[in-house]
Formats: sequence, C-alpha cells, structure tokens
Amino acid sequence: MEHKMKPESLMMSYGYKPEWSEGAIKCPIFQTSTFVFKNAEEGKAFFEVAYGLREKTEGEQLGLIYSRINNPDLEILENRLCLWDEAEDCAVFESGMSAITTVLLEFLKPGDLLLFSTPVYGGTEHFIRKILTQYGIHVVSFSVGQCEEEAIRLVESTGLAHKLALVYVETPANPTNALIDIECSKKIAQHFSTPERAVYLAVDNTYMGPLWQHPLKHGADLVLYSATKYIGGHSDVIAGACLGSAALISRVKVLRTFLGNMAGPWTGWLLLRSLETLKARMDIQAANAEKVAEFLNHHPKVEKVYYLGNITPAQTKAYAIKTKQCLSNGAMISFDVKGSENEAFRFLNALRLIKLAVSLGSTESLAEHPATMTHADVAPEEKSKLGITEKMIRLSIGVEHHADIIHDLQQALASV
Ligand SMILES: Cc1ncc(COP(=O)(O)O)c(C=O)c1O
Repeated sequence: MEHKMKPESLMMSYGYKPEWSEGAIKCPIFQTSTFVFKNAEEGKAFFEVAYGLREKTEGEQLGLIYSRINNPDLEILENRLCLWDEAEDCAVFESGMSAITTVLLEFLKPGDLLLFSTPVYGGTEHFIRKILTQYGIHVVSFSVGQCEEEAIRLVESTGLAHKLALVYVETPANPTNALIDIECSKKIAQHFSTPERAVYLAVDNTYMGPLWQHPLKHGADLVLYSATKYIGGHSDVIAGACLGSAALISRVKVLRTFLGNMAGPWTGWLLLRSLETLKARMDIQAANAEKVAEFLNHHPKVEKVYYLGNITPAQTKAYAIKTKQCLSNGAMISFDVKGSENEAFRFLNALRLIKLAVSLGSTESLAEHPATMTHADVAPEEKSKLGITEKMIRLSIGVEHHADIIHDLQQALASV
C-alpha cells in the first residue's frame, strides 16, 4: 500500500516543483499582477473556466490569468491548507473577516434567515447584526446548551424556518472556551434542508487551528479561519481561509474574484513559510498551555480557570462534545482573577514577558481583557449571560519556555 505522509511532512514541498523556478528550493514570491498566455486560444479557455462559462474537462487545471483570480503563491498555499482538514478545496483571503463575510454574502440572499451561535468573534457579530440585516437578511442566535431541540424551536418561532439558509457556529467560543456541538449543529441544518434547498453549516475553527479540530469531519460544509492566528502565527500578517467541497469553494472563489478580497502574493508567501512550522508551534503551545493551566488552577488569587483541559466527565455534555470533536485542549486559557476590573488591570499592567495585546495563536504569549477590549461592544446583559466578567483575563499561550511564562504570571499575580 502506498505510504500516506502526514501534512507536517508535506508543508515544505507539496504542490511546488523547483524546476518551475530555476531550481529554487522555495516557492518564490510571484509578485506579478498578470500572466502571459501562450496564445489567444489558451486565454479564451482559461477565462471560460474561471468565469464558470463551461465545466473543466477531465484533468484540466485552471491556468494562471490575473492575480485577483489566481497566483502560484495562493494556489500552493490553498493546496497545502487542504491537507490538514482533508478538504477538497480552499480559498485564501486578505483577512479572516473577508473569508467570513464572503461566505455569509454568498450563502445568504435578501429574505433568508441565518442561525448563528453566541458568542462569536466581535467582528463577525457586528457584520451579522449590523450589516447583513441592512440587506434584508434575518438573523437569530442560539447559545451553548441550546442544541438541538431548543435551536429548532428558536428558528421556528421566527416564522421564517422555510427561509433558513445557513447555520454559522464558532467553537470553542471566545473567550470562555464554551463548546458548541458541530454534529448537533449539522442536525439543525439538516432538519430545515429540503431537496430543493440545502441549509449549509459553516464553522469558524480559528480557536483550534487546522490541527486540533476538523469540523468537516463532523458534518460542517465550510470551515473558516482567521489565518492571522496559528496558520500565520507570528503576529506579522493578517489573512483568512475557507475550506470545503470543490463545489462550494468554487462559489466562494467566484464571489472573491468580484469582491477582490483575495490574499496578495506576499501574504501567500508568508503563510507558506509559516505552515512549515505549524505543527511544531502548535504542539509546543498546547504543551505550554497545559502547564500554565495547572499553575493557574492552584493559584490563590485565581477564582476560575476556563480551559478545555479542565472539563471533567462530571460536566457530561461539555465532556462528550470535547471528546468527540477536540483533538487537543488548545492553547487558549481565560481566568477570573479574584477581585474586579481593578485587579485585572493591575495584573495586565504588571506583565513583562507576556505582551498586553489582542489576537491569539502567535509565537509570543499574549494577554488581554475581553470585557473592555475584544468584547467591548457586547451588550452588558449579554456579557453577564456569557460569563464575560470584568475580572476575566484571556491568555494566548506562545512558544516561550513554559517556566518563563509561568514566572511572568506569578510575578504579575503577586502585584494584584
Ligand atoms: C475567532 C475569530 N474569527 C475571526 C477573526 C477575524 O480574523 P481577522 O482579524 O484575521 O480578520 C478573529 C480575529 O480575532 C477571531 O478571533
């Protein structure tokens, strides 16, 4: 039987041949806006495929046309990203938000209904509630624990169940690490699907990155990433990605062509470079997070720790979801410090190694205050419902030596 290599072994070479580029071992940056056709017939054939005027013939590849449509750095990157999620195709974008908004715009039309989980990333929530609704799209949300009968009732109570077009979830939820069941979300979508009208499920998998959760295997139709996190992972690039079946990604790519929000070649090249160390970085980050959580769990100034590794079998539902869909406890930890905003701020201001910044999944450890930063515009009653307290700190654990991260946390907690 043919040996199947692991994605991490293929990240340095897959989809690129050195002979295409003077023997260069690395894929160069194709900093070009347009590509020269061999002849007019070739140009015509490429456009027919790119604009969906005809189906590809057996074995035909879309030729290079123009960097808003395709570019070698993006195509190789997309092919490599497919390996982690075992997806048929991928589209990369200049930001996570552009991947998310393009998917929402492609799969929702005026009059349609969107069902989404809360909490979701603040930018996503803003786009859904404040922008999509301006285009006649109706929205309804469900939260952790409301899967599946309750969510079905919520959809039915809108009177628009027949217009449900998309279910959108983010799990684990930011910043509480609360879990939404992907298979259950798929059941909601299937419940409202008809032979004429498929209801799709999209999952924002940013928090777990391409290694620790594979939503497509649990029934998701589309998986979304802020590739800024983990995939980029060095706090030096903003990017996004969407993966799924060839048929759905082809729809996403057509809209991307006309919105013009694809990633540029330089972004593509940076992500190709980052992907080479994705597994190594994420392994270290998860191992460090385990040690950090253990330290926080026993610290007298810490009231509560929100970490996937802390979910016990006694928390029956959450434990069952975690066991089913999470391949790691991840590298995101939130905790409530004893006290209030004052104590939280004293802790943040005392950090030395860990940087006080939003974002996550980077090589350096980061800390932030969700209530006044990433989740500042979540309504106060919603915040308390979701458990986003003023004493909560969110940590993204990096690749530093775990003893140094813990030492920094210890000295900062001492000043609280
Ligand atoms: C879960 C999640 N999804 C999407 C985004 C948006 O991604 P980007 O900032 O790359 O546009 C973020 C950014 O923080 C995020 O945390």
